[in-house]
Amino acid sequence: MERIEGNRPTRPTEAPMRVCIVGASGKLGQYMVEHCLERGYDVVGVCRAQSVPKLDRFAGRITIVPGPTNDEDVIRRAVAGCDGVLTVLAPWGVQQYSSGTAQAVLDHAPARARLIFSCGWHITRDGKDEYSTAFKALVGVFGWLARLVRFAELDDQVEACRRIFASDKRWTVVRGSDLEEGESQGLPVWSEHVQDPILASNLTRRIDFALFMVDALTNSALEQVAPAINGAQTPSALAHREAVAA
Ligand SMILES: NC(=O)c1ccc[n+]([C@@H]2O[C@H](COP(=O)([O-])OP(=O)(O)OC[C@H]3O[C@@H](n4cnc5c(N)ncnc54)[C@H](OP(=O)(O)O)[C@@H]3O)[C@@H](O)[C@H]2O)c1
Repeated sequence: MERIEGNRPTRPTEAPMRVCIVGASGKLGQYMVEHCLERGYDVVGVCRAQSVPKLDRFAGRITIVPGPTNDEDVIRRAVAGCDGVLTVLAPWGVQQYSSGTAQAVLDHAPARARLIFSCGWHITRDGKDEYSTAFKALVGVFGWLARLVRFAELDDQVEACRRIFASDKRWTVVRGSDLEEGESQGLPVWSEHVQDPILASNLTRRIDFALFMVDALTNSALEQVAPAINGAQTPSALAHREAVAA
């Protein structure tokens, strides 16, 4: 029998934490698989059937449930018995993929599970984020063009997050800055609003975005919070650290 101690799910038998990664085959997803395996977690990955080969290097170490991530039945089977669910909210396609995926996770994950979702800085929880004109123009033009050619629907990612924010589950929505590849620089810094000085550099290594997502599983201080993140070694993060130390 499982129990909840404080805010953290634990199992009396010290069984490893069981984590479902929804969207495991993408770039962010694969980094999250690596971080979870390093921690000794049991990993269940969900990805589209045609993407299963992208997870070949994890063969024998994770369970894969193939299928669309917005398919209720796929998600119900994948999240059963999980302590945590890491969900990549992808705006790709024009079939309400993000909101369908978020809804399926909200509806079917165990009530005690930590639910961590990824998105970008363009999502705002309380409307108090201040964006530059250039950022707003980029999001506006990309969103319009992407929808025109039926490539992606940013509005649906906004709708997905609206539903998560309205939920009483143990969620965290991690809002990623611009991303780059490279070796880990450690756990990113975060703040509530994108204009906060610590976030000014707006650049996170993708491997560290994944690290923040996985770390959030066991950080109850991030429950029902939508942190905007930035790399720990970026100039604005370092300047903040120096200012605090002074
Ligand atoms: N890229 C950035 O600069 C940036 C910046 C900030 C935040 N983010 C956030 O980071 C997350 C994803 O990042 P990523 O770099 O890992 O992206 P990614 O590699 O493109 O993966 C995203 C997911 O989308 C799926 N996908 C791709 N095309 C699809 C389609 N046509 N229909 C349905 N699903 C499709 C992928 O599954 P398959 O493997 O099956 O293709 C994968 O699970 C998102 O939440 C995004 O909002 C990204």
